[in-house]
Amino acid sequence: MEKTLLGPSDLEVTKIGLGAWQFGEPTWGWGTTHSEKEAIEIIHQALDLGINWIDTAEVYGNGISEEVVAKALKHRRKEVVIATKVSGAHLRPVDIQKALEGSLKRLKTDYIDLYQIHWPHYYVPLQDTMATLSKRVDAGQIRYVGVSNFPVSLLKEASKAFAPKKIITNQVRYNLLQREIEKEVLPYCRRRGIHIIAYSPLAQGVLTGKYHSHQEIQKGPWGSLRLFAHEENFQQAEGVLEAIQKIAQERGVEPAQVALRWLIQKEGVVAIPGAKSIQQLIINAGASGWSLSREEMKMLDISSAHLSLTAYELSED
Ligand SMILES: NC(=O)c1ccc[n+]([C@@H]2O[C@H](COP(=O)([O-])OP(=O)(O)OC[C@H]3O[C@@H](n4cnc5c(N)ncnc54)[C@H](OP(=O)(O)O)[C@@H]3O)[C@@H](O)[C@H]2O)c1
Repeated sequence: MEKTLLGPSDLEVTKIGLGAWQFGEPTWGWGTTHSEKEAIEIIHQALDLGINWIDTAEVYGNGISEEVVAKALKHRRKEVVIATKVSGAHLRPVDIQKALEGSLKRLKTDYIDLYQIHWPHYYVPLQDTMATLSKRVDAGQIRYVGVSNFPVSLLKEASKAFAPKKIITNQVRYNLLQREIEKEVLPYCRRRGIHIIAYSPLAQGVLTGKYHSHQEIQKGPWGSLRLFAHEENFQQAEGVLEAIQKIAQERGVEPAQVALRWLIQKEGVVAIPGAKSIQQLIINAGASGWSLSREEMKMLDISSAHLSLTAYELSED
């Protein structure tokens, strides 16, 4: 598996990590389509394939995701970079401390490799939040700090408050259908050496090509809450899906692999696809170890350059 150093840190991670929101979250079918046994198998298989990091959060399944990760890593903690997140509702110093202790307990570990602010809180001064995180780094409970869903303005403010320590990552939504970070966030992060961790890299399954209509998406997990469950958005996605399909067919790879490859081939970007089965995991890991040509990258760029999606979604996780 291809690896990279994560931002200005000594954390060497595979360009494809494993997202763990799927573990513990009923809306993703937890307890119906998959459960703890499958999740633990998926995590073990991920490590066996060479994937060396997992992204979770205190809010995923209300703590279940962190507990499942801990169960899977019982004898393998040292092999893995654990990234978790403090909820945006817990950014006051007293709340961070409580949240961190909760995550350490659920994860059954005495340190977190990458502790991320899940989303900003506009009424808690970032200075207080960053000062508390800095102390937790000094105490050895956190190795590195990242943020998530941060626009450039807040990233600048957080970086200033955290100096001389550095924020190493910004975890944001980024995939072939949702490229809004390319305007400001991606260029800024590249200039500052902050890695982008691309979440929803498969547009929550849409980029795998398994949905043939917006109605099919409505029947899947998240139902009509999903952006592409709306006809006008799905119609726009079709051109991108065709380009992906064409490249996948010519190369004899899976569409999901093309979509993920497009992301991780970009400078300063790693991706954390979620998986609900070993089969999905194996496909996603297969985005590593080969390259799209310059022409193929361009074709994908052009296919998705002018989407204008209607924003129905309620985002949240
Ligand atoms: N920081 C944040 O605010 C934030 C927000 C969202 C996610 N995240 C993180 O990012 C990770 C990934 O994002 P995501 O879960 O939103 O979306 P995603 O990775 O784009 O999509 C994951 C879903 O796509 C389907 N899938 C995955 N691989 C597949 C394959 N090879 N073939 C067919 N279907 C496949 C599965 O769902 P079905 O089988 O049900 O289709 C899976 O649950 C999460 O686990 C979480 O760690 C962070």
